[in-house]
Formats: sequence, C-alpha cells, structure tokens
Amino acid sequence: MSLLTRFRGAALLLAVALAAAAWGVGAAQLAEGSKALEAKSCIRPADDMRRNHMEYIHHDRDLVVHKGIRDVDGSLAGCVDCHAGREADGSAIPVNAEGQFCSGCHEYTGTSITCFQCHRKVPEEK
Ligand code: HEC
Ligand code: HEC
Ligand code: HEC
Repeated sequence: MSLLTRFRGAALLLAVALAAAAWGVGAAQLAEGSKALEAKSCIRPADDMRRNHMEYIHHDRDLVVHKGIRDVDGSLAGCVDCHAGREADGSAIPVNAEGQFCSGCHEYTGTSITCFQCHRKVPEEK
C-alpha cells in the first residue's frame, strides 16, 4: 500500500468518524416523511452504509458516457426513492437540499457531490 493510499484511507476514516459524531452515532437521522422511516433497514447494515456507501454507488464518468453502466452495487434512484423527505402536503424534498438526508451529513464533512446534476434528487412520482 502506498503512503498516499494509506493517508487517504486514514483521512476517510476520520471524515466518517467526524460525520458519525456530529450526526449522532447509532441512530440514523432519517428524513421526515421519507419511506426510510417506515423501512426496517437499508440495502446493507447501517454502519456499513455509513462507511462505504460511496464505494457502492460510484461510477467512472467515462464508463457511463461510453458504455452505459450496469456494474454499480446499488441504484441511486433507489436511494433517493427511499431517503427523500416529504413536506406535510406530500411534496418531495430533494435529498441534497440543505439539512436533508444526503447533504445534511455531507455538510459536516465538507463533501460536495455532483451526482444530482444528472440524476433525479426526488423520487419519481408514479
Ligand atoms: C428501502 C429503503 C432504503 C433504501 C432503498 C436505501 N436506504 Fe439507506 N437507510 C434506510 C434505513 C431504514 C436506514 C436506517 C437503518 C438503521 O438505522 O438501521 C438507512 C441508513 C442509511 C445510511 C446511514 C445513515 C446514518 O445516519 O447513519 C446511509 C449512509 C444510507 N442509508 C445511504 C443509502 C444509499 C447511498 C442508498 C442507495 C444505494 C440507500 N441508503 C438505500 C433505508 C433505505
Ligand atoms: C454526467 C452525468 C452523470 C453524473 C454527474 C453522474 N452520473 Fe450516475 N449515471 C449517469 C448515466 C448516464 C447513467 C446510466 C443510466 C442508466 O444506466 O440507466 C448513470 C448510472 C448510475 C447508476 C446506476 C443506475 C441507477 O439509476 O442507479 C448509479 C448508482 C449512479 N449512476 C451513481 C452516480 C453517483 C453516485 C454519482 C455522483 C458521484 C453520479 N452517478 C454522477 C450519469 C451521471
Ligand atoms: C451518515 C453520514 C452520511 C450520509 C447520511 C450520506 N453520506 Fe455520502 N458521504 C459521507 C462521508 C463521510 C463521505 C466521505 C467524505 C470524504 O471522502 O471525505 C461521503 C461521500 C459520498 C460520496 C463520494 C463523494 C466523492 O467525492 O467521491 C458519494 C457519491 C455520496 N457520499 C453519496 C451519498 C448519497 C447519494 C447519500 C444519500 C442517499 C449520502 N451520500 C448520504 C457521509 C454520508
């Protein structure tokens, strides 16, 4: 393992630990009105998701553009469908809006993700 790899590993662990501390360890902070509040569990155990979700849903930009992508380990649309909160009137709140599920935690770690430039940030209404 290179020094750089090790450093990045340590930095990531620290980021996850800080986020977990700020976010409240153990009990997940689920969005008001989201399906996740009713669901028993995530697609994997919560502590695994907390640490590794970025690995499960990441894809290479070129892979998408040139070949399409089928080898990621979870669907981003699925995350959004279950984790998006709702207003009292039932309208969906974007998962990346301030304080919402994805961004609420990322704000603590200074993480910004560009995924929602292309992907839906609210559930698809049926
Ligand atoms: C069917 C609903 C559902 C889907 C789909 C789903 N989740 Fe979850 N997720 C949950 C629930 C429920 C929890 C809380 C579980 C617990 O506390 O044991 C959770 C927990 C998490 C956590 C930990 C949160 C915390 O505060 O510790 C992360 C991170 C997470 N999910 C990300 C994702 C991502 C990324 C996806 C898509 C790949 C996804 N989830 C898909 C329901 C879902
Ligand atoms: C430049 C546009 C673009 C950006 C930015 C982008 N994606 Fe994608 N993504 C796509 C396209 C196009 C597909 C292929 C859609 C399909 O296969 O139906 C895709 C597919 C996926 C899939 C599998 C299919 C699905 O609906 O879940 C996942 C998971 C995913 N992207 C996650 C991400 C994540 C996480 C990010 C941010 C780190 C991201 N994407 C950023 C364009 C993008
Ligand atoms: C419990 C806290 C927490 C929650 C909730 C959470 N994340 Fe994360 N996320 C993190 C941490 C910590 C990182 C790693 C930051 C770093 O690398 O410094 C991260 C990184 C990511 C990355 C990789 C960013 C990059 O630059 O490559 C993606 C993509 C991502 N998260 C997507 C999501 C999505 C989508 C959701 C909502 C469904 C979500 N996350 C919810 C804590 C969280």
